[in-house]
Amino acid sequence: MPAAGGIGPGNGKAYPGNLTPFVTVTCIVAAMGGLIFGYDIGISGGVTTMTPFLQKFFPEVWEKKEANKSTNQYCQYDSETLTLFTSSLYLAALVASVAAATITRKLGRKLSMLIGGLLFFAGALVNGFAKAVWMLILGRILLGLGIGFANQSVPLYLSEMAPYRYRGSLNIGFQLSITIGILVANVLNFFFAKIKGGWGWRLSLGGAMVPALIITIGSLVLPDTPNSMIERGQTEEARTKLKKIRGVDDVEEEFKDLVAASDASKLVEHPWTNLLQRKYRPHLTMAVLIPFFQQFTGINVIMFYAPVLFNTIGFGDDASLMSAVITGIVNVVATMVSIYGVDKWGRRFLFLEGGVQMLICQAVVAACIGAKFGISGNPGDLPKWYAIVVVLFICIYVAGFAWSWGPLGWLVPSEIFPLEIRSAAQSVNVSVNMIFTFLVAQVFLTMLCHMKFGLFLFFAFFVVVMSIFVYFFLPETKGIPIEEMNQVWRSHWYWSRFVEDHDYSNGDMEMSKGGLGPKNM
Ligand code: BGC
Repeated sequence: MPAAGGIGPGNGKAYPGNLTPFVTVTCIVAAMGGLIFGYDIGISGGVTTMTPFLQKFFPEVWEKKEANKSTNQYCQYDSETLTLFTSSLYLAALVASVAAATITRKLGRKLSMLIGGLLFFAGALVNGFAKAVWMLILGRILLGLGIGFANQSVPLYLSEMAPYRYRGSLNIGFQLSITIGILVANVLNFFFAKIKGGWGWRLSLGGAMVPALIITIGSLVLPDTPNSMIERGQTEEARTKLKKIRGVDDVEEEFKDLVAASDASKLVEHPWTNLLQRKYRPHLTMAVLIPFFQQFTGINVIMFYAPVLFNTIGFGDDASLMSAVITGIVNVVATMVSIYGVDKWGRRFLFLEGGVQMLICQAVVAACIGAKFGISGNPGDLPKWYAIVVVLFICIYVAGFAWSWGPLGWLVPSEIFPLEIRSAAQSVNVSVNMIFTFLVAQVFLTMLCHMKFGLFLFFAFFVVVMSIFVYFFLPETKGIPIEEMNQVWRSHWYWSRFVEDHDYSNGDMEMSKGGLGPKNM
């Protein structure tokens, strides 16, 4: 087996610095930027199973669902307007992340977070008071714009703030917030669905104002990252800030590297076209493939449509919302496992283990659903044990995702880009993530209707492909300072052909060779 770890701080620079209370609190506050994204992911699936909501905005879906009770279960929710409601947000997020790239680079990470919080707040307000479908869609577009800004800036902020040895754990705070957002949304849906007057959906959608306020206020009190301050010419303030963040006076080496990275970055006039240069081929590949693969694990089939899916396989409305709560809890807890392990076991181990786990579960779920529903989609009577087995394997699948592709899909891109392309490349990452989140959200119900249980095998196929990709092409990034990341490409059996020593100016050549043979993957 190719060496998976190989590169540790021992091979490279080891900047002094502690996990200070200051940096910890700062990162926790910033990570809450994930709440808005998570809340939204969790809320839409549940709202779209609430009868009063469907009757008011999507009466044709409701009628079809009513009429369909005993016929083909696979197709009862297949409606384009309904999926447009869920997925419009992701197109808006995609557009926003491009604008956010420039703001994040020129005006700092904080301002992008602030704009994200405000837009999200506006979206929640419009949705909570929605009277017609256009208001729903407008609200979701505003929410999407907010998410585009937040997802652009928060992961970068965290990776830049964190001492490199704890970067994985601190960055995964973002994913933890996403999962908490999803869970809270699922729990609220469960209760709001029971409100007598049938207006519970307004609380669900309007409730997004709370996480919006948290990130808005958070962004006002947070300090900017030293990297971003240097990039914007506040060099001396950045040095003082770095000392405070690291809790030591001796920050010269790290500081010098940040300044060098910033100088290199200033030479770049067009960060977008710059991305196309040969030496950035590994970065661009990861910025595109990591989010693509993350979405093709099929996770959002569960996140958006768990209640719909559980309904389809024979659970009542209440039990379906409850099952979504259960998968939500598993998602949060398993993310904590990742926080614990990512800087110990490394990224590659988690990616590969998670892949195998998801694959097995997808095969079992496909077999279970296939055995009961067959091709006709008519299950007859479903025994209780059967439903329990399906939910159990869906939970194990969610856990596999939650400690691998979930957090790492945001962590790894945010830590591998050199400063001069960081904002632009992160925006590619967010955009690709959003395009494919959109696609999965948009076509899932149609795919379920046509591919039936084969849908799970479709995603299983991609899990195999992505695991092979990680095995051969993704280098380990654990324990490498972020501005020193180039060494991992230079010592990689494949990527080394794209990057050359003289491509980099910030003094990391001294550690480029010793002990880092091409065996390192
Ligand atoms: C993904 C989302 C997904 C969530 C589930 C995130 O990392 O980007 O698409 O819904 O994880 O926890």
